[in-house]
Amino acid sequence: TDRYAVVGNPVEHSRSPAIHAMFAEQTDQDLSYERLLAPLDGFEATLRAFAAAGASGCNITVPFKFEAFRLAAMHSERAQLAGAVNTMRFDAAGWTGDNTDGAGLINDIQRNAGRPLAGLRVLLIGAGGAGAGVLGSLIAAKPANVTIVNRSVDKAEALAASHAHLGVPLRAAALADAPAEQDVVINATSTSLAGAASPVDSRVLKPGSLALDMMYGPKAQGFLDWAAAHGAEPRDGLGMLVEQAAEAFFSWRGVRPDTAPVLAALRASL
Ligand code: ATR
Repeated sequence: TDRYAVVGNPVEHSRSPAIHAMFAEQTDQDLSYERLLAPLDGFEATLRAFAAAGASGCNITVPFKFEAFRLAAMHSERAQLAGAVNTMRFDAAGWTGDNTDGAGLINDIQRNAGRPLAGLRVLLIGAGGAGAGVLGSLIAAKPANVTIVNRSVDKAEALAASHAHLGVPLRAAALADAPAEQDVVINATSTSLAGAASPVDSRVLKPGSLALDMMYGPKAQGFLDWAAAHGAEPRDGLGMLVEQAAEAFFSWRGVRPDTAPVLAALRASL
């Protein structure tokens, strides 16, 4: 039985063990997947002990994705671009860091929500870790343009600059200068934690816009209600969560699970 885990702090509410158990059952893979709480100053030691015990890999969640990036000896291209690692594989040759968050978001938007991003105007709210983690994958889907807005504009500018070579027009702006009538609006800020509805004005929406919050559950509700009240289609981060897990599962096992029944089961258990 190959061992995997999700490592974080806090980690007790993580849905990843349930998701990967469903994937394993569905695809007949012999693996175990547990929760590992790492002390805030003990991420590296926790990871080393887990690898030394014979584990095959792990997922990494808040707040360790940047430290995981530093600890990985090798990086996938998308992890390199994100500067953060959410999926690790332990090999004899060393640790390989990957990042499946962006692919998970794009698969959820394009396949599950049925919105091909090619040619669309995209607004990314938030230039912190969550926003940085998905921008490269967003760009790869060839939208018409991406505007990145952030409370501190310099972080939005730095993020746009580090992705400027990828061939899609990028703009950085303050929250108050968010452009009107976007096709897809993605909330990657942690403002929903405080219960605020939206960090930007409703003019960013138009009827039929997709408005996605990367969070799910009560934390996302304010943004989703705000979006629905202005004629947009609200979408929470549960689909992204399942899709990033599927992408990690595929990179570990070489088998692609069917995400639809897993998302439905998870939704029913919320
Ligand atoms: P995460 O990994 O969740 O992205 P982070 O890197 O700390 O966490 O980023 C948090 C994001 O939420 C940032 O975009 C942050 O804006 P700043 O870069 O200006 O700090 C944003 N954010 C947090 N609280 C906010 C608030 N009250 N209003 C607007 N944006 C906020």
